[in-house]
Amino acid sequence: MSFDDHSKIPETSGSMESTKLSKARDTWGSRLGVIMAVAGSAIGLGNFLRFPAKVAANSGGAFMIPYFISLLLLGIPLMWIEWTLGRFGGGFGHGTAPGVFHSVWQKNRFIKYFGIIGIFGPMVIFIYYTYIESWTLAYSFFSLMGKYDRLVDQTGMKSFLSAFQGLESNEYFHNLGWAYGFFLLTFVANAWVIYHGIKGGIERFCKWALPLLFFFAFVLFFRVLSLGAPDPAKPDWNIFHGFGFVWNPDFSKLLSAKVWLEAAGQIFFTLSVGIGVILTYASYLKKGDDVVLSGTTAAATNELAEVILGGSIILPAAFVFFGPVEIQSVAHSGVFNLGFVTMPLILNHLPLSHGMGFFWFFLLFLAGITSSVSLAQPAVAFLEDEFNLKRNKAVAIFTVAAFILCQPAIFFLKNGVVDELDFWGGTFFLVVFATVEVILFSWVFGMNKAWDEIHHGADLQVPIIYKFIIKYITPLFLFFILGMWFFQEWIPIIFMRNVAPENQPYILGTRIGLLAMFVALAVLVKIAWRGKSLPKAVKQ
Ligand code: ALA
Repeated sequence: MSFDDHSKIPETSGSMESTKLSKARDTWGSRLGVIMAVAGSAIGLGNFLRFPAKVAANSGGAFMIPYFISLLLLGIPLMWIEWTLGRFGGGFGHGTAPGVFHSVWQKNRFIKYFGIIGIFGPMVIFIYYTYIESWTLAYSFFSLMGKYDRLVDQTGMKSFLSAFQGLESNEYFHNLGWAYGFFLLTFVANAWVIYHGIKGGIERFCKWALPLLFFFAFVLFFRVLSLGAPDPAKPDWNIFHGFGFVWNPDFSKLLSAKVWLEAAGQIFFTLSVGIGVILTYASYLKKGDDVVLSGTTAAATNELAEVILGGSIILPAAFVFFGPVEIQSVAHSGVFNLGFVTMPLILNHLPLSHGMGFFWFFLLFLAGITSSVSLAQPAVAFLEDEFNLKRNKAVAIFTVAAFILCQPAIFFLKNGVVDELDFWGGTFFLVVFATVEVILFSWVFGMNKAWDEIHHGADLQVPIIYKFIIKYITPLFLFFILGMWFFQEWIPIIFMRNVAPENQPYILGTRIGLLAMFVALAVLVKIAWRGKSLPKAVKQ
């Protein structure tokens, strides 16, 4: 099978397929708009919470070596591949992986089922991501109201967070009421943006949310840079040593496979590649639209937000306030503790603490919502494209399904359900999906035709070395990661060896639920393809 030039595929009429494809799909309003939307999808909680936690846990500056290698060999190539495949599939009226993959490999009846991962994965992430995003909205409100003003140590702030999450009861929260209320607000906000479509909803929203997010991030960045040592008796507790703590490399750690796997995993998560969302966003491009410069710009914007801003806020500031000994436990306390315990405590010590706290949490909220709307879009696009549903119906169906699916993440947080969803949706399937994509692109299409397709309408030439990288290095790297996972983690994961016995029924329940979700999507794909003929081009 070759990479078909869809301008040469004959149009026929009268079949169910052509009737369905005749429905006009949404399009982006401007090039800036699509870049902002993709950058918005990439810049998320991963940049400001997950990245500093990974850097701290994986040998500081040395982590950046596998990180940048993964960026160059996995992240950037996959970004171009997904933009290109998405635009190609959109030319056939398909905005999600089952249809995109089928358009690429038309004679293969099974490839569309691999594409299910591109709807399943983002939906699974959406289920828990939206809930965590809602905490950031709640904490924005709490900061403005001074609700945690009096808390001055880690114990108090941790207890505030646990009670908010419904894990304990204290003078601040007796039940999940506040958390549930903010979840509802966040959920409705997401649905509202998606309901207004690609141009009128996602693009319009990202065009103001992203600049505002950068404004908040730069304010916090400069505020942290200007921090003086709080205690004159401890002049070493300063911002320079804070940066030293974050970035000083420990090269011996590079011998550990785990550091390389975590770096690659962070690249996937932060760039939103291997999920399926960029494929969907790119399907709304026109055939002649550039993908190389736009994809590179979106990736570069994400890296600015991650490495420069994400790496310079929480941890250097925490060093200044907690010092060289306590920072060790703070840095390893996990993503939630860094974001919702450490950071508000630090900001509580600064002048204008209410405003600064609001800036921090609302920055996270904007980062979160511009990502979560992108996670919802594949499922909505699937219903619109493959079942010919109008957007309001597609959004209504998605909203009801996603709302029901979110409930276990909310009520069984303490039983490890969120971590389980994150492992399958936010880690494992990303790598599987990326592997399928890259093989399909470079081996099934054939690299020469794939190269032409990447450069169709391109405003930038991809360095020729990437022809070799995309064909050989990226797939080998992905197989290596998958192989390492199977080798190191498969048995303990399958047999839940690291799960406390009392949580095992919940984890098993989550796995059964995920399997049921996958099967349901497979049935929907089967129904959608009933009577479909070979894909036909619908736009130039
Ligand atoms: N790319 C998104 C993030 O970093 C999912 O949070």
